Amino acid sequence: MTQLIDPFARAIKYLRVSVTDRCDFRCVYCMSENMQFLPKKDLLTLEELDRMCSAFIRLGVEKLRITGGEPLVRRGIMTFFDAMTRHLDSGALKELTLTTNGSQLAKYADDLYAAGVRRVNVSLDTLDDQKFADITRWGRLPQVIKGIDAAQRAGLRVKINTVALKGFNENELFTLQSWCADRDMDLTFIEVMPMGDIGNEDRLGQYWSLSDLRARLAEQFNVSDLAERSGGPARYVQLAETGQKIGFITPMSHNFCESCNRVRITCTGEIFTCLGQEGHSDLRAPLRASDDDAVLEQAIHKAIGLKPKGHDFDYSRQSVDGRVSRHMSHTGG
Ligand code: GTP
Ligand code: 5AD
Ligand code: SF4
Repeated sequence: MTQLIDPFARAIKYLRVSVTDRCDFRCVYCMSENMQFLPKKDLLTLEELDRMCSAFIRLGVEKLRITGGEPLVRRGIMTFFDAMTRHLDSGALKELTLTTNGSQLAKYADDLYAAGVRRVNVSLDTLDDQKFADITRWGRLPQVIKGIDAAQRAGLRVKINTVALKGFNENELFTLQSWCADRDMDLTFIEVMPMGDIGNEDRLGQYWSLSDLRARLAEQFNVSDLAERSGGPARYVQLAETGQKIGFITPMSHNFCESCNRVRITCTGEIFTCLGQEGHSDLRAPLRASDDDAVLEQAIHKAIGLKPKGHDFDYSRQSVDGRVSRHMSHTGG
């Protein structure tokens, strides 16, 4: 089968797969307090997830990121990671990784390493116990720190993902930066995106542009741009004084859609070819319709043929334009 190339000549090499819409936290910018979750019967089984990912890998996907909700709350998830090891062993898959809230890392870090995972991204927006409890509603910071410690002990490289939120973690920029430097962890900031009806929405009020954040870093450090990318959306700078890399994911202030190399699968087998658009196709029906993988591969090709040029998120008119109604947890970020 031929490689996946979208209508704008972008090669699709990176697949993000959400294995559950559930989460043991309720981050205020991500979910409402009383989220309704999908019935378990709608989810792809672990075997179906394997078939789906294997099809994408045959079609040229080299990087597989497992997301959620919180991927590590999916029952039996290690069976799936273990199954993916064969694609690393064959050389077809270059990276198997996950984005997690860290709550279950203490339990799974060693098993993830054994399955071939070498890097994890942990979402962490504050180092203040009370603020952490406030923003995640159900999370507790010490549990996450225990998870991060376990991950590092297991040999996993940890990158921290912080959603930049005005009035919330602006004053923690240097605390987060030095905490990560002390632990030899990279840190990536993400601009908050207008996704999902979360019941408490003030996206514009929360929005903290990463250009401003970069300027603040430059007041304290020698900051140089790095050309290298991780295959993801972040652009990186290096701080000369600590050697540390700081990433910026700037969908709002500097659109990076032109170089987009990824698509997303939800836990129910829908494919979203853009995080910031409502358009999607169903892959569960073709997956279940036939044991013949050619049917699924054809459906994947057709879906990639519909990948839009980019998202329409826009705060520049001082209004929230281009928002999508889907929650971030639906497609896993
Ligand atoms: P690395 O391999 O470490 O570069 O990972 P990554 O940045 O690809 O993955 P991660 O899960 O850490 O992504 C961080 C966040 O970036 C996601 O949760 C999204 O919020 C955002 N993001 C990732 N891809 C896109 C994209 O294509 N468009 C937009 N608007 N945001 C994205
Ligand atoms: N805007 C930006 N990032 C978000 N995340 C969740 N919701 C949003 C949003 N509205 C982030 C999480 C996590 C990743 C999966 O997505 O903090 O790092
Ligand atoms: Fe859970 Fe992640 Fe959403 Fe927070 S951002 S509620 S940790 S899925």
